[in-house]
Amino acid sequence: MMRLTIRDIQKMKDKGEPIAMLTAYDATSASLSETAGVPMLLVGDSLGMVIQGHQSTIPVTLDHMIYHAQIVTRVTQRPLIVGDMPFMSYNVSEEQALTNAARLMQESGVSAIKLEGGETIAPTIARIVQSGIPVMAHIGLTPQSVNRFGGFRVQGKEMASAQHLLRDAQAVQDAGAFAVVLELVTAPLSQMITEKLQIPTIGIGAGAGCDGQVQVFHDILGMFDALTPRHAKQYAKVGDMIREAIGQYVLEVTNREFPTELNSFPMSDDVLTALREAETANGASH
Ligand code: KIV
Repeated sequence: MMRLTIRDIQKMKDKGEPIAMLTAYDATSASLSETAGVPMLLVGDSLGMVIQGHQSTIPVTLDHMIYHAQIVTRVTQRPLIVGDMPFMSYNVSEEQALTNAARLMQESGVSAIKLEGGETIAPTIARIVQSGIPVMAHIGLTPQSVNRFGGFRVQGKEMASAQHLLRDAQAVQDAGAFAVVLELVTAPLSQMITEKLQIPTIGIGAGAGCDGQVQVFHDILGMFDALTPRHAKQYAKVGDMIREAIGQYVLEVTNREFPTELNSFPMSDDVLTALREAETANGASH
């Protein structure tokens, strides 16, 4: 099976086919998402929260991203896999960004990388793209700058910030990004950006007017108790199901109801008798 490419994703926008993107961090989440038909998976640095238990994405390192991206590429065949560049792995210099983007792609097998920022990071995007690495941009609320934003606030509400976002979107497209994530951007502005750009916009908390949507695996499955963001819809309460199932397991082990014969492996009576005799003789000789 051929893996989807950035051209396939562009064709989806051109044909008006909405793009459903989801995060994946491990073999289970990636395989389930592939079999459910997700065309594009993001190994997101949101793993800092949902996998590593941090309060933000800031502690995530490039080595962590490579480790998780390797797993996701190993177990999938069809989806386009995008690997996130973590905090400060591309902001020091263009050389640093290029070296780290190359490491992420070469060591994990992802087909593209994602990084946060608009106008100011556009020259870095251009440099990475020119080197053969497809880049997905990410503007609006960029979680690696949460401390600068002072929280997870919706972007593009006022004239100046809306105009700034329009410039950011244009700049990342001009730099050669193949798609752009719009995070926590007002819905009408996201729609304007989507109409203005040739490349696909992938929204998260950015309304229905984007070319695609991206969500965090744990959010749409109801698996992450610490936070249930308004922009996410819970399609299942998997967390409750898991808790209930584990509770039942604990109860059955405690009550000696599990395992039963069905979960155990027999041995022949002859071998067992011989073994008991040998053990008895062994005990007698000591
Ligand atoms: O890290 C992540 O999961 C992301 C998406 C939520 C866009 O960047």
